[in-house]
Amino acid sequence: MDNPERDPSVARAFVRNNTAIETPTLVPEIPLHLASKVMPLWHATEEELEQMEIPPPYWAFAWAGGQALTRFLLDNPDRVRGKRVLDFAAGSGLSAIAAARCGAREVVASEIDPLALAAIQLNAELNQVQLHVMDEDFLGRGDGAWDLLLAGDVCYEQPMADRAFAWLAQQAAAGADVLMGDPGRSYLPAQGLEALAVYRVPTNRELEDSEVRRTTVWRILPSEGD
Ligand SMILES: C[S@@+](CC[C@H](N)C(=O)[O-])C[C@H]1O[C@@H](n2cnc3c(N)ncnc32)[C@H](O)[C@@H]1O
Repeated sequence: MDNPERDPSVARAFVRNNTAIETPTLVPEIPLHLASKVMPLWHATEEELEQMEIPPPYWAFAWAGGQALTRFLLDNPDRVRGKRVLDFAAGSGLSAIAAARCGAREVVASEIDPLALAAIQLNAELNQVQLHVMDEDFLGRGDGAWDLLLAGDVCYEQPMADRAFAWLAQQAAAGADVLMGDPGRSYLPAQGLEALAVYRVPTNRELEDSEVRRTTVWRILPSEGD
């Protein structure tokens, strides 16, 4: 494969050729380019992508955290309407698409994986919504101009979870509404969170070791003194 980082049309073709249009179980309203048989794609591309320093195709799966978060948004559109929204680490762009559907004033979807950027753009086109797809690592940056931040399933690795939570908590302290969807990943902090809703999300046994994951939508509490 040519390097998708250098040529976005290569990334678009790769996403199209390795996915089918499917709907996540908990969010049947939003079709996405997904890999129903994720593991073959994972294994087939692992070495090639690794050589290009591109991570495994997280964007090809609607993760339990993202599905629960998206369900919550669609069922609570008042939380989103008129807001400036960032879907941080957007993956397939599922939550960002829901935010646009709920009437957000502006939606930014951020990713650092060039294939995810292509997938988000294709998924936005499929759902006829407009997103600002940004190839940006916002972690460690100052406060953004967002009213609502979304983070679906970002606590899957310790360094990512630590950095992401510290930054998201900083945004909450600055006044943003910060929502996370998490299916009990090991690196989710034990404190500073308020549970808003719980869902049982059907998942892929190959990826999750379970057919259902109990998944919580959390709000990060703005801590005093930050
Ligand atoms: C487990 S996936 C979750 C995707 C989506 N939110 C969902 O719930 O389906 C985590 C994603 O985080 C992205 N990611 C990791 N570090 C990031 C960063 N600093 N900024 C933006 N995206 C990042 C990865 O590329 C990956 O697509």
